[in-house]
Amino acid sequence: MSKPAAAAVGIGAAPRLRPVYLDFQATTPTDPRVVAEMLPYFTEKFGNPHSEAHAFGREAEEAVETARRQVADLIGAEAREIVFTSGATESNNLALKGLAGFYGEGRDHVVTVATEHKCVLETVRQLEREGFSVTVLPVAADGLLDPAAVAAVLTGRTLAVSVMAANNEIGVLQPIAEIGRICREHQVFFHTDAAQAAGEIPLDVGALNVDLMSLTAHKMYGPMGIGALYVRRRPRVRLMPQMSGGGQERGMRSGTLPAPLCVGFGAACALAAADMEEGEGLRLAGLRDRFLGGLRSRLPGVSVNGSLTARLPGNLNLGFAGIGGESLLGRLPDLALSTGSACTSASLEPSHVLKAIGVTEPLIHTGIRFSFGRTTTEEEVDYAAGRVAEEVEALRRRSPA
Ligand SMILES: Cc1ncc(COP(=O)(O)O)c(C=O)c1O
Repeated sequence: MSKPAAAAVGIGAAPRLRPVYLDFQATTPTDPRVVAEMLPYFTEKFGNPHSEAHAFGREAEEAVETARRQVADLIGAEAREIVFTSGATESNNLALKGLAGFYGEGRDHVVTVATEHKCVLETVRQLEREGFSVTVLPVAADGLLDPAAVAAVLTGRTLAVSVMAANNEIGVLQPIAEIGRICREHQVFFHTDAAQAAGEIPLDVGALNVDLMSLTAHKMYGPMGIGALYVRRRPRVRLMPQMSGGGQERGMRSGTLPAPLCVGFGAACALAAADMEEGEGLRLAGLRDRFLGGLRSRLPGVSVNGSLTARLPGNLNLGFAGIGGESLLGRLPDLALSTGSACTSASLEPSHVLKAIGVTEPLIHTGIRFSFGRTTTEEEVDYAAGRVAEEVEALRRRSPA
């Protein structure tokens, strides 16, 4: 199959001869409209947003507060419930360690799920080392957590439950509203890592009964290095700060706010809200289904990891019987893809998410994550499906077993 025209393989404004980018769950390009909003805050509007004594500072502060409102609007929160952080890793750490630090005396049990991002799993491991008891719940073969399983493990000592909204490897959407309802009934704090869900599917912290929600800008066409933690005010959630300093962000996260990044994050949230309104989710689901249909019309032995219904519209995680994921990626330099687990692929350790949904040897090594985004076109998807099919067939011919 021939390569598509340069214009079709580039991302962003300028046509470039680069691989087709299908790794939007690793990160997204910063939308040029977001960059345009940010630029003045690096140069002429460079004030420290905490310097209230002069116009430079007040101008930056105003921009940060507008951004805070834009982030809040995306998830149905109030602006003063948004704490800016450096990203979802920090937000997850602040949420769980912050709760533990403030309320941990007497409430020393934390519940999470086997398919969470490592920054949640490692955070609860740290709490365990500090004396907390930790329950890591299993998921079903489709990747979904049964809310009844959450209810079954809650005790009078349970402090918090942390369940991600959308999985970063297999894209499945957990029943957050139902889990939130159970947590509220039991007066247990409920945290959700929405790094992958925010901006792609509608989220409302009220309807979802969420007390704490982690967000990150670089998965939603905003800049890297900025995120947020939603912290509910009514009923009030208190956190022990994880950083000592000037007491910014209502004492929860000290440090000078990066005004240009805050502005970019806010702009990205506003654009994502408009995109969702205009049906971007349906467009992504259409591209995903087109890609899967194209592959399956050419290839037998293609399995979908995780539920296809309760899933982010832009995610697919596929297994190809008989094919090592890494060998396949090695033959596809014209596609930017990752195996199910980007963090552990260097060590060739199987993905903890695929393991948790019961994928076993040898299929566990065949998982590849395809993620589609704002700049993905039908032409790119057709090209990618053709190239994947071609290389899978070639590998299967080489080792028919
Ligand atoms: C579900 C999930 N949580 C947390 C993170 C970490 O986010 P950040 O890169 O903003 O620290 C990621 C990014 O890989 C993610 O996918």
